[in-house]
Amino acid sequence: MGISYFDIKILMKDIKMKGILDWQSKEVVNIFDETSLWSAPFGRLLLANIPMKKKATVLDIGFGTGFPLIELSQRFGRSSTIYGIDIWDEAILRTEEKIRVLGIQNIKILKQSAEKIPLADDSVDLICSNLGVNNFEHKLAVLQECHRVLKHDGSICITTNPIGTFEALYSLFITAAEFLGLKDAIKNIEANRNHRDHFENIKTYMADEGFILHDKKTDEDVIRFVDALSVFNHSLIRFGFLASWKTFIAEEMQATFFKKVIALIQREIKTQGEFSLKIPILYLVFQKS
Ligand SMILES: C[S@@+](CC[C@H](N)C(=O)[O-])C[C@H]1O[C@@H](n2cnc3c(N)ncnc32)[C@H](O)[C@@H]1O
Repeated sequence: MGISYFDIKILMKDIKMKGILDWQSKEVVNIFDETSLWSAPFGRLLLANIPMKKKATVLDIGFGTGFPLIELSQRFGRSSTIYGIDIWDEAILRTEEKIRVLGIQNIKILKQSAEKIPLADDSVDLICSNLGVNNFEHKLAVLQECHRVLKHDGSICITTNPIGTFEALYSLFITAAEFLGLKDAIKNIEANRNHRDHFENIKTYMADEGFILHDKKTDEDVIRFVDALSVFNHSLIRFGFLASWKTFIAEEMQATFFKKVIALIQREIKTQGEFSLKIPILYLVFQKS
């Protein structure tokens, strides 16, 4: 179907583009680069595959510093309303700052846990959560709420890093713990490695909450190092993982344990030229069954 002269007239009347963003402005520079490299490959897979339509009601659960919330709002445009729900006060402030500087008007922020979503039954076309589900303390309560607010023909699209994340490192943790005779540590390492979801168990708990799988895509990210100590000094590891890894080992043995792991990584770098941490990426779409 072609676009008529009448359509163009209406469009031109209606159109109001926002101004250019100034590269020299401090506040534009401040909000320019915010999506972490950790989140980005998950979000790219999500944004490349989510179902899209006009006049949609979209909900992003656990948007952190605004991702993919702000992308969703810009891609769905004026006819849609994009709700973002999160509990992280500082990150919400950051997101609100971006929304203000970019002049975005179709986002509504909900500052509360998604265990209770303040939206009506059967009112949302699309729920997204980039790296959210594995972080919710009461995941099933959140999923029950998703089921309540999702329209009968709506979709819930999630990404997560399943079991297999950082496998090369977990195997060296076990080698180091075995070498040092730390039997309890081995149990803790295995429990930590196995706490992550895998595809089949996500499918099962989603089915328990009334969702059926509609689409699945996988990908992989790799973080490469040529220096063993750098693995543990990397901001991503210090921010997201190191605290839990330290709990594997009794405090008095932590320094010895991590020295051993670093020596094992160094040995691998000597033979392979680098040490690679692989991160499997899972994108899943569910609908109401
Ligand atoms: C790993 S971050 C992902 C952030 C963002 N989506 C991204 O891709 O960068 C997980 C987010 O889930 C949020 N979160 C955790 N529990 C939540 C809950 N019960 N309700 C809503 N958000 C929650 C956290 O505050 C955090 O912003």
